[in-house]
Amino acid sequence: MLTKKVKARLFPKDFLWGTTISSYQNEGAHATDGKKASIWDTFTNHPNFDKGNGNEGNDFYNNYKEDIEKVKELNLDVFRFSLSWSRILPDGTGEINPKGLEFYHNVIDYCLALDIQPWITLYHWDLPQSLEDQGGWTNRKILDWFATYVEICTKAFGNKVKNWIVLNEPMTFVGLGYFMGMHAPGKKGANNFLAAAHHATVCQGIGGRIVRKNVPKAYIGTTFSCSYVTPSSRLSKHKKAANRIDALLNRFFIEPILGMGYPKDTLVGLNAIEVFVKENDKELMQFDFDFIGIQYYFRIVAKFSLLPPILFATEVPAIEREVNINNMGMEIYPRGLYKMIEKFSAYPKVKDLIISESGVCFDDPIINGKIKDKQRIKYFKNTFAYTLKAIEEGKKVKGYFIWTLVDNFEWAEGIKTRFGLYHNNFSNHKRTAKKSAIWLKKFLKTKNKTSQETLKVISKKEAVLENYN
Ligand code: BGC
Repeated sequence: MLTKKVKARLFPKDFLWGTTISSYQNEGAHATDGKKASIWDTFTNHPNFDKGNGNEGNDFYNNYKEDIEKVKELNLDVFRFSLSWSRILPDGTGEINPKGLEFYHNVIDYCLALDIQPWITLYHWDLPQSLEDQGGWTNRKILDWFATYVEICTKAFGNKVKNWIVLNEPMTFVGLGYFMGMHAPGKKGANNFLAAAHHATVCQGIGGRIVRKNVPKAYIGTTFSCSYVTPSSRLSKHKKAANRIDALLNRFFIEPILGMGYPKDTLVGLNAIEVFVKENDKELMQFDFDFIGIQYYFRIVAKFSLLPPILFATEVPAIEREVNINNMGMEIYPRGLYKMIEKFSAYPKVKDLIISESGVCFDDPIINGKIKDKQRIKYFKNTFAYTLKAIEEGKKVKGYFIWTLVDNFEWAEGIKTRFGLYHNNFSNHKRTAKKSAIWLKKFLKTKNKTSQETLKVISKKEAVLENYN
């Protein structure tokens, strides 16, 4: 039992609460007003893909005002969204589509009119198909294509938007898209992976510098998917396996930007990436980001395995471990967010941290007009509590952005996987507030973000923390 007296715990007054969406998952209007195909349009409209497509998304293109009003109603400060490269530059390079720019001006202006901070993500995985036709992220020309695109976006919106994110989760789009073939563009193999990964790393630095040049007083970051990785037992071979997975998932993209290079100490096979590293790349990859975006969803338990080679490690699936899982089969493990904050804070050069995405997915059926997503509320209570604990310990966490506002097209999972605070009926795009939205609105209402609720949750958790490995 926890006996020590705990004082009231408050989130700092300037802590930013937000929600986040992405262009492909939400906008729809996939061939409207001059937009051309992205790799996700191609991938999901291929006959081999059987999870539907994001042609309509959740129709944000036509509902952006109502959705931004919801952000306001929820008492959130920030709306993070991404720009669709192929809406702005339908062929990836060359002619700018004025209608594309106009759409994002409208979104930004509406946020500003409602006193909501717009945060732009430059790249959330929807590469123009015409660039993929030339090799996409595996082609070193992506460095120039990306630079041109970032120049255009920052010049168009930089006088209105201060907060910029260069890439969304490079490990996810490179790993699933260019190594496993599970995401667009569906490529596989170590060479595709290493080339795409290295070019993405360099683009992080290139993008950051262009934003700094073009946007006065910009607050610049880039985001990383991360998973808390623990070994399946205390045996040294499993611990080493966990370290290798950790290096791949959590260290690969951040360490080069901090000037530390790729984590080749732990992942020996990474030496093969050197083929793609050109003179001056080490400098190009580095950038002094104002913040790092942490995107946390689940924990991984790792064990030694002969396959795949190089990694010699595999995951013990959550379902076999009989733990609490979401509807993608991932373990719901809020304490992992705290461990990730700890991990990223340990790099001396990292400045601020923003939880730029976290959330949980369920089936969320509507029963008698209501969606009682109690488990989602629990997830947020717990992860907010761990965030607060980290802040109290001096970690520089400046915001928490919920994934996501309205159920949307969940990539390879299609529309059955719901992460939203609002339910979306995919036949008519009618939105219905889930219980979690109603809870969040109340939670955020007190102006100084007081949270006695949070206090209770974390107190209970602290009592059992020591028993976790
Ligand atoms: C991505 C989102 C995705 C979410 C849930 C993150 O990896 O940035 O686009 O929907 O996770 O899977």
